Amino acid sequence: MHLLLIGSGGREHAMVWKLAQSDSVTRISVAPGNPGMQQESKVATVDIAVNDSTALLDFAENESVHLTIVGPEVPLVAGIVNRFEEAGQRIFGPTSAAAQLEGSKAFAKDFMARHAIPTAAYATFTEAGPAIDWIRQRGAPIVIKADGLAAGKGVVVAQSIDEACEAVRTMLAGQFGQAGSQVVIEEFLAGEEASFIAVVSGRQCIPLATSQDHKARDDGDSGPNTGGMGAYSPAPVVTDAVHSHVVADILQPTIDALADDGMPFTGFLYVGLMIDQHGLANVVEYNVRLGDPETQPLMLRMRSELLPLLDHAVNGTLPDATVEWHPGSAIGIVVAAGEYPAGSSKGELITGIEQAEAHGNKVFHAGTRIENDQLVTAGGRVLCVTAVGENLAEAKRAAETSASCIRWKGCRYRRDIGHRAITRLTS
Ligand code: AMP
Ligand code: GLY
Repeated sequence: MHLLLIGSGGREHAMVWKLAQSDSVTRISVAPGNPGMQQESKVATVDIAVNDSTALLDFAENESVHLTIVGPEVPLVAGIVNRFEEAGQRIFGPTSAAAQLEGSKAFAKDFMARHAIPTAAYATFTEAGPAIDWIRQRGAPIVIKADGLAAGKGVVVAQSIDEACEAVRTMLAGQFGQAGSQVVIEEFLAGEEASFIAVVSGRQCIPLATSQDHKARDDGDSGPNTGGMGAYSPAPVVTDAVHSHVVADILQPTIDALADDGMPFTGFLYVGLMIDQHGLANVVEYNVRLGDPETQPLMLRMRSELLPLLDHAVNGTLPDATVEWHPGSAIGIVVAAGEYPAGSSKGELITGIEQAEAHGNKVFHAGTRIENDQLVTAGGRVLCVTAVGENLAEAKRAAETSASCIRWKGCRYRRDIGHRAITRLTS
């Protein structure tokens, strides 16, 4: 069976690594992929950009692709699934209509309000004046979000009214182009975050194991916001009771409402949750794809095959699928450029991956490139070192041992990924 995976990050490297383990898979093409993927068995990269749906569809048709799987949100929001489905090609992911859950925060908030799905109180603005009046009425802390896709950079959690007003002005003035021409302002939610991701097919779903990522750059969850500096699974903040509450009051109502509204969802639905001290969850965001870096530890923990889950979802037979997990914990620690998130690293020689993997752990590539036959940096988040263990503390020690082998000029990683869970489990 030949698969096509669209994407080039650490999330896609982890997916390809997992998919390649299925005996039924003979070949995986990744567009455009990265050098880490090229080292996996059965995998070849193809030089097609993630948003070139014409070339991707041609490739799928000409190369007898059994299933195309979409990693990132941009092609989903742009309608790649519609395009493939119209051409009769099997593809795993939501249509552009359903992908608006991530593509427009105003759409997502209106959808949740309409269907009584718990989320922060909000208002939507296209003009600074009324937005600032609303901020002054509500007070700080308060959260300002660009409506459209902004590569994870479009959210400001403002601690003061001045900071909030400044964020509104810069977004509406064009900081994120069209994506910021409308802003959502919402109430600040206190609590602990968790990532709740499910495989969805219409009204049916199978939740994956829970996870939590760390978005701040520095230890102690301080420093600037990033795309994610590390993640682990499971997230103990999602107790059995919280899990049942999320499925009953958030996940199932979300997918039923999408189906009722005429845009049934197929794909990975990622619900970012804020869980308060009473175990009540609110939706912070929807993503219509797997999380990065959550996917890296999730793929490490998944014991059953990934492909049958996706095949069943596309075929409309999801209840026939099962998923099994390593009973312990998995962790992924991102090794990033010193300049990240403001900048990135380019062309610095990377060493130590073999030593890191000699400890029995897996290193996924994100921002790497081959230059003169050598592996060099090519991004902000460069690698993700993953490990699995009987418990989170053990997995963390193993991943840190491996991460310490990796070197390039200016590389950095957090030493406290999983701290909330470790505190919770040991207190
Ligand atoms: P988003 O892109 O919507 O997930 O927002 C990025 C991050 O901002 C989230 O992971 C949260 O840490 C934070 N955030 C977003 N919305 C809220 C909110 N209403 N209250 C508190 N923190 C939030
Ligand atoms: N780790 C958060 C995200 O993928 O959006």
